[in-house]
Amino acid sequence: MERELLIPREAIKKRVKELARQISIDYEGKEPVLIGILNGVIFFFADLIREISIPTRIDFIRAASYGSEMESSGSIRLTKDVEMPVQGKSVVLVEDIVDTGLTLSHIVKNLQSKGTESLRICALIDKPERRNIDVSIDYCGFKINEGFLVGYGLDYDEKYRYLPDICILK
Ligand code: IMP
Ligand code: MG
Repeated sequence: MERELLIPREAIKKRVKELARQISIDYEGKEPVLIGILNGVIFFFADLIREISIPTRIDFIRAASYGSEMESSGSIRLTKDVEMPVQGKSVVLVEDIVDTGLTLSHIVKNLQSKGTESLRICALIDKPERRNIDVSIDYCGFKINEGFLVGYGLDYDEKYRYLPDICILK
């Protein structure tokens, strides 16, 4: 399939640094737990935590939705839960891309039921066009309206994750 460059690696790097700086300021003295949502988040997560200048702890969650490759079906289940205790902790949930918001809202509910002290969301890409469920993104990398994106961890049917830039699939 054809691809068109949308966000080059230099622009990603610059924006990730800015997000990391803001998180470092907001969580000074708090040692937040950063929870990445697998698999799409891997590169963003790895780059972000290394730019954050305060101590953090990390863990991962994995969710699966039944649906086609380009659309989530609305039925979400966790295939991997957090392993670190998050009760009373300041948590930052880190996601690659928020589309309908279904995945994120499911995960937010799950984490809040564990008694987190606070919970904020950091997403590399916000695609507000198809938002179904209201989720407030506290740290947003890029707001994008058009197209299906691949690269920098984002996949289409498990392909293209390895691309260093973010592209639109044609
Ligand atoms: P949501 O539940 O509809 O918000 O979908 C979120 C998940 O769908 C993301 O974590 C991605 O895995 C996937 N997704 C949504 N839009 C895209 C896209 O443009 N490219 C790649 N994956 C996407
Ligand atoms: Mg994802």
